[in-house]
Amino acid sequence: MKKILITGADGMLAHDFIQSQKNKFQIIWFDKSVLDITVLHNIDTIVQNVKPDIILNCAAYLNAEKAEKEEKKRNFDVNALWVFNLATIAKKYQKDFITLSTDYVFDGQKRNGYNETDIQNPLNNYGLAKYLGEKLATEIYSNTLIIRTSWLYGGGKNYDNFVNTIVWLLNNEKEIKIVNNQFWSPTYTMDLSMAIWEIISNIEFLRWKIFHLSNDISNNGISWFDFADRICKIKKKWAQLVPCSSEEYESGDISRPKFSKLNNNSSFLLRNWEEGLKEYLKRLE
Ligand SMILES: NC(=O)c1ccc[n+]([C@@H]2O[C@H](COP(=O)([O-])OP(=O)(O)OC[C@H]3O[C@@H](n4cnc5c(N)ncnc54)[C@H](OP(=O)(O)O)[C@@H]3O)[C@@H](O)[C@H]2O)c1
Repeated sequence: MKKILITGADGMLAHDFIQSQKNKFQIIWFDKSVLDITVLHNIDTIVQNVKPDIILNCAAYLNAEKAEKEEKKRNFDVNALWVFNLATIAKKYQKDFITLSTDYVFDGQKRNGYNETDIQNPLNNYGLAKYLGEKLATEIYSNTLIIRTSWLYGGGKNYDNFVNTIVWLLNNEKEIKIVNNQFWSPTYTMDLSMAIWEIISNIEFLRWKIFHLSNDISNNGISWFDFADRICKIKKKWAQLVPCSSEEYESGDISRPKFSKLNNNSSFLLRNWEEGLKEYLKRLE
């Protein structure tokens, strides 16, 4: 039975991935308190002892605002340098290595969605660190498999994500101000997990590839506003949604891609975004 070692196991994606476990694989997961990926000796020893077939790196630093200022170093350490080190260890022990990346590696100038081979041009430090993580890992270990995804929600009530926030606001506020000028692909972590399982099942044929995995959308992306509006409709709850621009909403110290829909040109397709959203809202009940 193939063994998968998961880093960052406390995170939202790792949580749903572990929950959706398939019996034909053995999974061994580590949260940050046990396996801090920024401690080289730690990873090397654990990989030697666990002897996984696949290392799935779900550990990441996600606070894009802080990555611009006070947490610059941590962002580059976790998202770039240590992804490179994980790839180096995967190469040393000849293990498959899968790491997650983001739509933030793109600049958002392309309106009809980004393909897997499109040129990256990150606008902020978080995107830059993820881009460097991709580049350094694939350069040191060409077998590295990269999964870019965007705008994740899932995990259940204990996780901090946009859907949970809107559901809370709908129960507590009459008016909600929401950004309407950024267009992305939403992704339910349970749907993403199913696609990752499929990829893992076929990994012999997929090493070194890049995947764009997000829920299917027919147009050029969903805005936070449209997404919140759909949550209201599905929940049949009313609140005054007030559209605003990202510039108005944020401090202005960070640039984000305006259009960053991910085009998935692989055969590992996720279902339509509304179906994923409906299922997650049921899960929260
Ligand atoms: N969430 C999104 O909207 C989104 C969008 C596009 C791509 N992605 C990518 O998808 C992946 C999974 O994201 P997610 O939403 O599941 O993130 P998440 O919930 O923040 O999970 C990441 C986990 O990594 C842990 N971590 C941080 N530093 C670590 C270290 N040095 N060693 C070990 N673990 C460490 C975090 O712990 P602490 O929280 O305690 O630091 C957290 O539990 C990431 O690669 C992310 O960049 C996410």
